[in-house]
Amino acid sequence: MKKIQNKQWIYSKIPEKSVDQSHYTLEENILTISDLKSGQAILKAAYFSIDPYMRIQQSRNNTWEEPHPLNTVQRGAVVCQIVGINDSNTTLKKGDWVLSYTGWQEYAITEISNLRLLDPKEVSVTTALGVLGMPARIAYFGFIETGLPKKGETVVVSGASGAVGQVVVQIAKIKGCKVIGIAGSEEKTKFLKEIIGAHEVINYKKYPTAKEMHQELRRLSPEGIDIYYDNVGGYITDAVFEHINLNARIIICGQISQYLGGLDTPEMGPRFLHKILYQRATIKGILARDYNDRMDEMLSEMIPWVQNGLIQYHETIIEGFDKLPEALNMLFFGKNKGKLIVKV
Ligand SMILES: NC(=O)c1ccc[n+]([C@@H]2O[C@H](COP(=O)([O-])OP(=O)(O)OC[C@H]3O[C@@H](n4cnc5c(N)ncnc54)[C@H](OP(=O)(O)O)[C@@H]3O)[C@@H](O)[C@H]2O)c1
Repeated sequence: MKKIQNKQWIYSKIPEKSVDQSHYTLEENILTISDLKSGQAILKAAYFSIDPYMRIQQSRNNTWEEPHPLNTVQRGAVVCQIVGINDSNTTLKKGDWVLSYTGWQEYAITEISNLRLLDPKEVSVTTALGVLGMPARIAYFGFIETGLPKKGETVVVSGASGAVGQVVVQIAKIKGCKVIGIAGSEEKTKFLKEIIGAHEVINYKKYPTAKEMHQELRRLSPEGIDIYYDNVGGYITDAVFEHINLNARIIICGQISQYLGGLDTPEMGPRFLHKILYQRATIKGILARDYNDRMDEMLSEMIPWVQNGLIQYHETIIEGFDKLPEALNMLFFGKNKGKLIVKV
């Protein structure tokens, strides 16, 4: 009867602002391979996805669902290898790479029906967490189906160098748009311009008020903004609203500037809805889960784009299971470029 020593990060305390190890408890337990029921597999985690929604789910109030329950394993997507399996009707086997939603634990027992098989010969398995995973799904469907891009239009992307943003910028380029990417450092704006190919870039730290940001946007896009893909919110979004064109489309994908405590006590901003009225603009919130059943459709277009280099991507990979809570906090201080992943 093979026994496996397991470690788990248990979410145990609601953070008020930043999140760190004090909001988690490290626990150990033993898993027994012979305990596997029919239709189950035991997985060994290799790469953990670190996502802003984890902090959203630590708010006190319901968001799109109830807050993450306290004293349970931190939920999240993980790229794993199958180390044991109990099912004679599946083609999955020991050693296969899979995507699972088993959270912050070194090993997990789960139903085989929850797994997505990954092919390491096709692309790196880490891409299932970023450029070919959930962030890409919301970038792809959100931009194309809510943004309704037309060739020659001007697109602004906030949080442009992150997991979602880097994909949006490049899809906008593929669709023939002019793209302005906003990010929080010179290194990131350089990456956006030189690797990702944004036409114009703004380091928002150099324009710390809505007025200054608006002036810079106007300088870079005298023609106005047709599509705004918002990952960030706050004053950056206020500044964009000042500069939208007739029939502009505003896509609310994320509001990361508000997550560290702001979700339960929202920051009051300028009342800008009159701009929406004058310009007959539309604002729509989008959620990746609404496109869950269209993953194959997204992948059929995105995999060739990634394989032939039309879409470039960056991943920030941190090593160590013990680093998981610290890694989550990194997202809110701009410490990642592209998809943030923890490797064990
Ligand atoms: N709607 C959905 O279903 C869905 C799905 C996935 C993600 N999202 C949202 O999309 C956004 C991006 O997610 P992601 O996974 O791609 O994360 P990410 O962009 O890879 O990482 C977060 C980045 O946000 C920026 N940031 C943090 N605090 C900021 C602030 N106060 N002001 C401006 N920028 C700030 C930082 O970059 P800088 O250095 O540029 O500041 C940081 O690196 C998040 O808001 C997330 O909640 C939504």
